[in-house]
Amino acid sequence: MQNERTHDKIAVIDFGGQYAHLIATKVRRAEVLAEIRQPEDATEMFADYKGIILSGSPALASLGEDSQWNKAILDLDLPILGFCFGHQEIAKHYGGTVINGKQEWGHADLHIHREHPLFAGLERVEQVWMSHFDSVTSVGPDFEELGHTVLGEDSPPHPFAVIASDKLRRYGFQFHPEVGDTLHGDQMIGNFVRNICGCEPSWNMTRYVEEQVGKIRQQVGDKSVFLLASGGVDSTVAAKLFADALGTQRLHLLHVDNGLMRKNESAAVVKMFEDFGLGKNFHFIDATDEFLKALEGLIEPEAKRRAIGDTFISVFENEARRLGIEDHLLGQGTIYPDTIESGGTKRADTIKTHHNRVPIIEEMIAAGKVIEPLADLYKVEVRELGERLGIPHDMIWRHPFPGPGLGIRLLCSDGQPADNEKLNDLAPAITEAVSAYGLVASPLPIKSVGVKADLRSYEHPVLIHGDANWDQLAQASGTIFKTIEGINRTLWNLTPRMPTTFRSLAATITKDRLDLLRECDQLMMDGLRRHDLYSQVWQCPTVLVPLEIDGQGRELCILRPIQSERAMSATAARLPQELLAELHTQIMALPGISGLAYDLTSKPPGTIEWE
Ligand code: XMP
Repeated sequence: MQNERTHDKIAVIDFGGQYAHLIATKVRRAEVLAEIRQPEDATEMFADYKGIILSGSPALASLGEDSQWNKAILDLDLPILGFCFGHQEIAKHYGGTVINGKQEWGHADLHIHREHPLFAGLERVEQVWMSHFDSVTSVGPDFEELGHTVLGEDSPPHPFAVIASDKLRRYGFQFHPEVGDTLHGDQMIGNFVRNICGCEPSWNMTRYVEEQVGKIRQQVGDKSVFLLASGGVDSTVAAKLFADALGTQRLHLLHVDNGLMRKNESAAVVKMFEDFGLGKNFHFIDATDEFLKALEGLIEPEAKRRAIGDTFISVFENEARRLGIEDHLLGQGTIYPDTIESGGTKRADTIKTHHNRVPIIEEMIAAGKVIEPLADLYKVEVRELGERLGIPHDMIWRHPFPGPGLGIRLLCSDGQPADNEKLNDLAPAITEAVSAYGLVASPLPIKSVGVKADLRSYEHPVLIHGDANWDQLAQASGTIFKTIEGINRTLWNLTPRMPTTFRSLAATITKDRLDLLRECDQLMMDGLRRHDLYSQVWQCPTVLVPLEIDGQGRELCILRPIQSERAMSATAARLPQELLAELHTQIMALPGISGLAYDLTSKPPGTIEWE
């Protein structure tokens, strides 16, 4: 069996988080291992790579922004390809010029000037995706212009869209081959890693499984593995991999019900592991009471998150000691973006970070007793691996569910009429902002968490009412966010009339409220499945807010279906009216529900979760 170290691999230098991850995913699709590296990494760290790709960045090369990176990397005797910002950095470094101007945005036609291994198998004109302010306007002595772009029929050609020096083995694309809008971007990236860097394609799931099984057996020896099984994709795939490597006798699983799970979720997780034949050493603890006690009386979102995180740690520690896991290796479903600074959603990792930091785990890490077989994989690869290991498709494609669960979807309040004066002041401007679309709107006396310019916000939503299509609703929302301060969400009223009075009610987390939220959530999830939309939606939180509307009910229910790629940004998904009508009938019939609304907010300025 070939050992992992012998895989040819490419370094992707990360000048701007999500681009770099996309590039790495595309290189891996060419069956070549790609790893993320930081711009300030020491030159020696690149010794084992067969080529380097410089990602794009929000920085402007023309203004010298982000110019502090380790440029000695460019002196390495390895092929280097840059995209957008990376392309401009290469041009500048070798005597070319970059100006702030000639910006392009959108689809363009790339005209390739001559045959070249970078474009092997492609047409002479290819559709590419442009998104840049800066442009290369001349190249240094060893370089040629290998392609130019044309953005529209009337636009002049944009020079230096591809630059190349076969002598130096330095190349640059002004466009983004890593995004789907560059139709044959995958092939261009594949051409670079195979034809220019000479990488042997060897990094695929069959090999990955073989290697990991070997490594697990070697590291675990005759011991056992202990793994926390949340029911989420990563820990489930890890569990199956451990079981395949070691047998079920030597795999211990612990599932904690924190009382903040979806309806029947814990029972379903237990059953799923039994069905997989992984139930032999499955430990289950219902810690609902401990979590509810810790959440008693709490209102502020961060205080709730902390209480949930801390309780998880103490429950886990008690169980771990009781089960004697010090004698085992600790298995974790950590995936690649979790292991690198710029990866994933930082907040999404908080709970995992907590798990990793509890003293018992710190001790185990220090003693080399932690094993993470998915640590090289992206989520999409974990899913592919899961399918290969025979985990049912539905389980693998479940929506993400946050660690603090329904605890951050059940809003709490002290019932004080917050900021009423401020809301009254905002009302006329809000009315004006939506009137152009034939809509009416009102701010609500509640608050939720959002993100503006990378900072957390805690602000009011606006409830919009009226007949409008999705585009008009999106435009009305955009106008509100652009023109009115202190608002971070827009909601569309799904009941027949615009309510006139809203009263914030005192409420904390209780079992009854959680049960009501579980019912609403279940109706939403059933509806998505019934209409065959579950897999077309990235995630769909259902939220309850303690708000009395027109003197009726105690809880406003909010539906939040979203589209996203990596949860870093998101837009509201557009569900069919028929489904919304069904949900209206079902949810409004539940006891205590005061209203139903649809969250229209993109991220930013809202976050996916409400807290
Ligand atoms: P936000 O609300 O920040 O969420 O837009 C982004 C993604 O992360 C999930 N999320 C969490 N996941 N622990 C988790 O494991 C958390 O504390 C947490 N908070 C948010 C959220 O569901 C979405 O997929």
